[in-house]
Amino acid sequence: MLVHFVTDEPGKIPAIRAMLEPRYRVTPQLLGTGETQFSSSGVLMVDADLRVATRVEQLKLVLSELRSISEKLFVVQSHIHHMVTQAYALGATAVVRNAREIVFKLAEIEVAQKASKTDFAISPEIAVGAAAFESMFAAIRSGKSVNLSEAEHATSQIVNGIAQNGLGAWLDNVRRYHEGTFQHCLLVTGVAVGFALDLGFTYPDIKRLGMAATLHDIGKARIPLSILDKPGRLEPVEDEIMKRHPEIGYELLKDLPGIRPEVLDGVRHHHEYLDGSGYPDGLTASGISDLVRLLTISDIFAALVESRPYRPPMSREDAYKILCGMDGKLEGTLVKAFRKVALVA
Ligand SMILES: [Fe+2]
Ligand SMILES: [Fe+2]
Repeated sequence: MLVHFVTDEPGKIPAIRAMLEPRYRVTPQLLGTGETQFSSSGVLMVDADLRVATRVEQLKLVLSELRSISEKLFVVQSHIHHMVTQAYALGATAVVRNAREIVFKLAEIEVAQKASKTDFAISPEIAVGAAAFESMFAAIRSGKSVNLSEAEHATSQIVNGIAQNGLGAWLDNVRRYHEGTFQHCLLVTGVAVGFALDLGFTYPDIKRLGMAATLHDIGKARIPLSILDKPGRLEPVEDEIMKRHPEIGYELLKDLPGIRPEVLDGVRHHHEYLDGSGYPDGLTASGISDLVRLLTISDIFAALVESRPYRPPMSREDAYKILCGMDGKLEGTLVKAFRKVALVA
């Protein structure tokens, strides 16, 4: 596999060659010098200081010349948040921190590319959806408000993507290309839309559930990244902070002109359970709407089948078994109806 390595430090070129050759063929390029060799295959790997405006401008030129490469890996040591956001804004499909993650990610891409036998492009629906999530989260982190029309557009794209290619293709592609909270939001929206399509909902109802799913975890934009991206189990105090995200999301959205009450309901209540053991309001069955019941099932399933750097994704069969074991918390008839979505779609 070809690795196009783009950097702003000459010293990094021999280091990356020593790490990756001869398994991969490395074609290095120093930013600001020379011509970009045209290619549409392999992986583009970028290791540059994205805080320097001139570097970003030079990089944009290279990226536009290599735009047909679908895999864009950005190296951001210690995950400086601003640089991670910048990397995704520039079109990164994954961000890695260190040599171990580089090797792991390249191997993953190689397996996927071999499996598909041919290089593939990211579907436009995923690209639009991911860009919308990135921009919504970045806006909230910098104190701005959510752009509802951006969320609407992303939701419509996801509905189109699922309607055309099915949920299975969506899950595979999103897990391959995106990480963390963005991956989760894309998956939940895809699963919820797939569920609504399977239940034969009308287009406006699919859109309503899709919008609630798109925005359901928007409150996580205000949760510290040290908690949000922590690998493994959270400490009790961290868990308390994490559990504030439904209320935060509700507060961020409730005064926006045009926000629908059922979307607000979904954002605030997607962690409520029928038996009253959920949060933040401890609602019981009578207080939990149908839309929220569908969203909660979609959210739990998507979280279980997510791909994380530190663990492989759970199979759809095992994830569905867990849903079936949550009797009393989730609506049994809906979980039964979800079987086809979970296992077949
Ligand atoms: Fe959530
Ligand atoms: Fe969620």
